[in-house]
Amino acid sequence: MIVDGELRPPGDKSISHRALLLASMAKGTSRIKRLSPSVDVQSTARVLRMLGVEIPWSPGEVSINGLGIGGLRAPHDSLECGNSGTTARLTAGLISASAFNCTFTGDISLSRRPMRRIAEPLRAMGAHITLQDEEHLPMTVSGNSLHSIDWSSDVASAQVKSAILLAGLAGRVAVSVTEPVMSRDHTERMLARMGASVTVAKQRIRLEPCEYLQPLELNVPGDPSSSAYPVALATLANRGELTIRAVCLNQTRTGFYRVLSRMGGNTGLRLEGEEGGEPVGTIEAHHAALRGVRISPDEIPSIIDELPVIACLAARADGVTTITGAGELRVKESDRISNMVSNLRQVGVIVEELADGMRITGTDAPLKGRVVTNADHRVAMAFGVLALDNRNAIDIDQPGCVAVSYPDYWDDMQSILR
Ligand code: S3P
Repeated sequence: MIVDGELRPPGDKSISHRALLLASMAKGTSRIKRLSPSVDVQSTARVLRMLGVEIPWSPGEVSINGLGIGGLRAPHDSLECGNSGTTARLTAGLISASAFNCTFTGDISLSRRPMRRIAEPLRAMGAHITLQDEEHLPMTVSGNSLHSIDWSSDVASAQVKSAILLAGLAGRVAVSVTEPVMSRDHTERMLARMGASVTVAKQRIRLEPCEYLQPLELNVPGDPSSSAYPVALATLANRGELTIRAVCLNQTRTGFYRVLSRMGGNTGLRLEGEEGGEPVGTIEAHHAALRGVRISPDEIPSIIDELPVIACLAARADGVTTITGAGELRVKESDRISNMVSNLRQVGVIVEELADGMRITGTDAPLKGRVVTNADHRVAMAFGVLALDNRNAIDIDQPGCVAVSYPDYWDDMQSILR
């Protein structure tokens, strides 16, 4: 297999959600280029439209006239968030200071995911929130005038942190959030870029009350999580050289590339500049023979979305890879520990399931079988890497679910195969 050529990945999904949410709060017109074309980001756009924001849909360039802080309007129906946890959790924070009620709903996967982690801090700030079984969607948020909070989160979750920061923004109150390990920091960076006063000391982030946000001019950097799949394919190839340009190289997102290098990967990251307060650069990837590694709990937040593709690379490494401290994987779009373990076994890999991770024994035998994704986009894309290797015979049950984050995944991956 030869993997060669250049790719421009889709705009980063996390940054795109935040750009839509914060541009909606700004005073003036924001212009956002290369927005992620993902179904998840379309869910955020749809929900914001229901809250009164005009958002013409085009991943090319979008102009948004912000309604100002506190300018959102009561929706006529429940806010359907599809598969997107980021849409539900961040929007809940943003509307928790509004003088109206909203009900959040989602698809089967999102309806199984935990929401108490955001309900607790938002309630502590003064919002009224009801949850199905005290944990799940449908969730009703009745906004209120909020008070300041200094919250310590027991999970390293950017969605929890961001929900609190957005509630502080909307309620014009100071908020501090401390996390056990730093999670992705795009909300803090974008708020600061738009003129808010944000300070970061170790894992403690503080946002001061904010009068107004300046509009955003942003060319969304490429998604480092989406880029991990073509990089993994280039690593498993016999030869070739893959170049991926204009990728977000924020340290809270590049853990995959650090783990890959420890596994023996031959991938270089070249920092070239900045876009919207985010470091941006080029990734170059070549073939490498991989070895098994130990992945420690502290690394997990920076590789949380890449663990499925790391598990698939570990299946092709020499020796054993152990992942621990990754219990959060059980509450993603699917239970990604049991989903990965059963599918790796299904295609012929020896893997042991742990309560908070897995232990994978690499093999170079051809892998064969049908992968049952449970419609989890990252499981489909991770096994997609193994399926595209013509030494294997793997079939993916729902290849279309990749659209949740990367609609052009299959075309982009085919375009670099020679
Ligand atoms: C995201 C945060 C992470 C990540 C998700 C996107 C974000 O979730 O897994 O894909 O954009 O804030 P958690 O906050 O639940 O860790």
